[in-house]
Amino acid sequence: MLRLPALLLISLLTLAACGEVEDTRPGQPVKTRQEAFKSLLRSFEPMGTMLKEKRYDADKFLALAQDVVSKRDAPWSHFGPDTNYPPSKSRAEVWSKSAEFEQAQKDFITATDVLLVAAQTKKEASVGEPYKKVYETCQGCHKVFRER
Ligand code: HEC
Repeated sequence: MLRLPALLLISLLTLAACGEVEDTRPGQPVKTRQEAFKSLLRSFEPMGTMLKEKRYDADKFLALAQDVVSKRDAPWSHFGPDTNYPPSKSRAEVWSKSAEFEQAQKDFITATDVLLVAAQTKKEASVGEPYKKVYETCQGCHKVFRER
């Protein structure tokens, strides 16, 4: 009788580590927001790689910046009340500090506006700093609101 909870806990931890916990709730809010973030990353990361590897392509960079802007609103409506269950990696602060969480979204959205304007100049010298600023808003939010 006493051993069962421990075993269950171990198997749950193992599942979590492998990322195999399925989101079985209607509408799959956790899975949906995670997919939205992954999609954002798929547009955002190649811009950083381009800059780091010194192969800036102004048109591709602009297209990616436009993608980021078109995807930037997708995750937020899927953080409804009562949606912090496995496989969520959100911290309770998303809900307990909702004003700060909304501010972090606004900071991120503003930074992506600046990035898009910079990308439209098609000048490599203009895009590095705005890219870094957006990156900092991703990281800044994760530091407070996401489990690592
Ligand atoms: C306002 C806060 C906030 C901002 C801004 C933000 N994120 Fe996140 N991100 C989160 C939270 C919270 C989670 C955890 C979601 C969950 O599992 O419930 C997350 C999860 C993720 C994940 C993991 C998804 C998964 O499959 O588990 C990736 C990748 C990610 N974010 C990338 C980014 C990138 C790239 C940016 C910026 C371009 C960004 N995020 C901006 C809050 C934010």
